[in-house]
Amino acid sequence: MKILLLGQNGQVGWELQRSLAVLGQVTALDYDSAEHCGDFSNPQGVAATVRALQPDVIVNAAAHTAVDKAESEPELARLLNATTPGVLAEEAARLGAWLIHYSTDYVFDGSGERPWVETDAPAPLSVYGRTKLEGEQLIQQSGCQHLILRTSWVYAARGGNFAKTMLRLAQERERLTVIDDQWGAPTGADLLADVTAHAIAHLRQRPQDGGLYHCVAAGQTNWHAYARYVIEQARSLRPELPIQVQEIAPVPTSAFPTPAQRPHNSRLDTRQLQTTFGLTLPHWQQGVARMLREIL
Ligand SMILES: NC(=O)c1ccc[n+]([C@@H]2O[C@H](COP(=O)([O-])OP(=O)(O)OC[C@H]3O[C@@H](n4cnc5c(N)ncnc54)[C@H](OP(=O)(O)O)[C@@H]3O)[C@@H](O)[C@H]2O)c1
Repeated sequence: MKILLLGQNGQVGWELQRSLAVLGQVTALDYDSAEHCGDFSNPQGVAATVRALQPDVIVNAAAHTAVDKAESEPELARLLNATTPGVLAEEAARLGAWLIHYSTDYVFDGSGERPWVETDAPAPLSVYGRTKLEGEQLIQQSGCQHLILRTSWVYAARGGNFAKTMLRLAQERERLTVIDDQWGAPTGADLLADVTAHAIAHLRQRPQDGGLYHCVAAGQTNWHAYARYVIEQARSLRPELPIQVQEIAPVPTSAFPTPAQRPHNSRLDTRQLQTTFGLTLPHWQQGVARMLREIL
């Protein structure tokens, strides 16, 4: 099987390089790759790459993920999150290839407390959410065989993340304030990559199971409880760390105004994915604890 991986150096892209390797021959590209164009600001260049490589499966981990920045550059966000994924989908349809794509809890408005199911009506609050939703729709309308995984609060051992920021701040300050009214599930890039590889193998046998699914780790938390968990784990794993923090105070979202509005309820219901693909999604604390053991 020939696989084209786009966005190879992002959190999820990096882990996909590992998890997809057992499935076949992977060509992995980033926006500045030399031999083939992987730059999503150049949709025709990306289309030419698909035509040249003729993959069986295209996995798209590239995106404009800077949620606040997207508010001031909506055209670039739309190009990366919607237009080019739409062009990829048209190329996939023409080739008969699968397109695997990632989307987000930010397609929802964050109302209520119930975990969102795939059939709930989206109502994004931000440019990022709107452009990601448009990307989903263009893929669905293209008629290509596809799998779209909506996820949330992605972290990885590699690169910056919320847990690392909290660990740094806990060593610099005695008091931290962290938002406690946004709920979701921190989801490891490694988990997403493993689910993706499993799903591709499954879809080769049961192509009728393609479509849109929610994919997040089990359980739920808010950023304040997540920060507390990270710091407690760090204290027990590395007692010698110079952690200064005495108090981690919960605050509402309004305490940290940002250009992009974020959903309060980012809980995603994953029963459809688990049942269809025969998967068990582990609790978010399991993945975060593992990531902490790796980075500390
Ligand atoms: N991160 C989250 O919390 C989160 C939550 C829900 C859904 N998702 C979705 O999950 C998927 C993977 O996200 P991630 O967390 O792995 O994001 P990420 O780490 O930001 O990776 C995105 C990748 O796209 C690259 N990129 C930027 N501009 C590009 C361009 N013009 N052409 C090609 N590539 C370009 C980025 O490169 P640079 O880093 O060099 O800019 C980066 O390597 C995305 O579809 C995202 O929308 C993420």
